[in-house]
This record gives sequence, structure tokens and C-alpha cells, in this order.
Amino acid sequence: MTLSELQKKGESVLREAGVENYSNEARWLLESAFGINSSAILLNGSSPADVDKAENFLSMVRERAGGRPLQYILGRWDFYGREFAVGEGVLIPRPETEMLVDCALEYLRGRNNPTVIDLCAGSGCVGLTVAAEIPDSEVYLVEKYDEAFEYLKRNKELLGVNNAVLIKADVLDSGLVLPKADMILSNPPYIRSGEIPSLQAEVLREPLTALDAGEDGLVFYRAIAKLIRKYCSGAAAVECGENQAEDVAAILGNAHSLRDFNSIDRIVVTEGENDAF
Ligand SMILES: C[S@@+](CC[C@H](N)C(=O)[O-])C[C@H]1O[C@@H](n2cnc3c(N)ncnc32)[C@H](O)[C@@H]1O
Repeated sequence: MTLSELQKKGESVLREAGVENYSNEARWLLESAFGINSSAILLNGSSPADVDKAENFLSMVRERAGGRPLQYILGRWDFYGREFAVGEGVLIPRPETEMLVDCALEYLRGRNNPTVIDLCAGSGCVGLTVAAEIPDSEVYLVEKYDEAFEYLKRNKELLGVNNAVLIKADVLDSGLVLPKADMILSNPPYIRSGEIPSLQAEVLREPLTALDAGEDGLVFYRAIAKLIRKYCSGAAAVECGENQAEDVAAILGNAHSLRDFNSIDRIVVTEGENDAF
């Protein structure tokens, strides 16, 4: 088979399986299986494809058609212009979460040697990006679960940052000790337990521990609010789910929310006038 025949085959399998973005996804899988970019596919489309790579591509297509998230098959995903390793056991970085990084860069601009804490760090997409963007910062990333923590370590290495400190700990543990920080960031679990069964099948392939936030979906914000009061002398920004911003703002105090590209109040920011400021 040639590369373009393989691409067409991939597209048709994915389309039949109901994958909405079948054309792009077939191309991305082809690029990944053959280690080439889209212009090389165009240039070499009519050349016979390496048999082992072709088999690898077709098996990736089958996995995708079976509902495995594209990002887990590729094993990497882009966040804020950098590639992060991802796979089962870690949440896939979402585009709306990039707003947390925007908030951090805006707030920290012009501050010398800021200390930043990223709670519920997962892949590290938020905290490691801040560490890479602000080389004179020191960023502490807290993650509880083994599998996610392994990705955190891997991504710290991938990004080559040496100003990030990884802490394996429980954010809900009232005995958690952290350094004093200029800014606290977090994209914690925020789905109500009762809503979990109605999530899209693909989202349910992601770890429940990254999603489930108890009966009212707010358990992490209460713990984070306490940590902000105790350890943060500047500002904090947290991501939240649809229709949660008001409750989260009330929990954090002196807060306002920012809308994402779908006009959902997505990020809650609090600055100054908390007990500790
Ligand atoms: C919604 S995910 C966000 C991951 C990452 N910050 C991102 O934006 O992609 C929440 C993360 O919190 C971690 N987590 C869940 N419970 C935790 C706890 N009690 N203490 C620390 N981390 C926790 C999960 O393992 C998961 O990695």
C-alpha cells in the first residue's frame, strides 16, 4: 500500500467508527506511525509504505476506532506550544487550561524570582509551562497519584526545566506543608460524583481520580482556599467547570471570573484582601 492509500483507509475506518475529526486524525496517526510531517506525506504519497510502519498505523487506527483517545495513542499532546507526554493515568491537557498560564504570565510579569505552586498538577502542563516561560521562577507542583506523578517526572525532563520541584502529596491533607508563594494555580478535579456516569465515553477513559470532586464538585476548592490563605501572598487562579464559577468565587473570596472561548466562566481569580494578604 502507498502512504495515500493508507491515509484513505484510515479515514474511512475512523469515519465509519463515528470519529468526527476523522480526516485530521488519520493524518496525525499516519505522521506519528511514519515519523514524518504532512508535507512529506504529500510528497511521498504514491511511494510504497514500509510494511511494519503501515501495520503499526493500522493498529493505531483500530485503537482509535475502538474509542481510545487520540492523545493516548499518539502518547503526546501540545499545550501552550510545548509537547507533553500523556497516556492512561493522566488527564489530557485541554486548550481552555492555557488560560491559567496566561493569568500566571500576566500576573508574574516583572516580578523577580517568583514562587508559584501548581496544585493537582497531573501532566504538569500548567506548572511546567510557567517554569519554562519564567526561567527565574521556582514552581512547586503537587500531585497525589502514582501514574500521573510518573508523567509529571517525564514531562519535567522533556521540557528540560530545572526550576520545578515535584511534590507527591495529597492536596486534601490538612497537614500539607508548602512554601510561601506569590501565586497559586490549580486545575483540580471538579465534576460532581453523580455526573460522572453521564460523561462522554472518551472522557471516561481518563482517570476518575482526575475528574471526581465529590458530591457537590467543590471539595478541592475548599481545600485550595485554605492553602491560598495559608501560603499565598499574591494571587491565585483556578479553573472550574461550567456553572461553578459563582460558587468557587464565594469559596475563594474577593474573586472574579474569566470567560473561555466558549463564553463559559472558566477561571476564577482572587487577588489581595484574603486573610493572608
Ligand atoms: C483535572 S486534573 C488536572 C491535571 C492538570 N493540572 C491539567 O490541567 O491538565 C486533576 C489532577 O489532580 C490530581 N489529584 C486528584 N486528587 C488529588 C489530591 N487529593 N491531591 C493531589 N492531586 C490530586 C489528579 O491525579 C489529576 O492529575
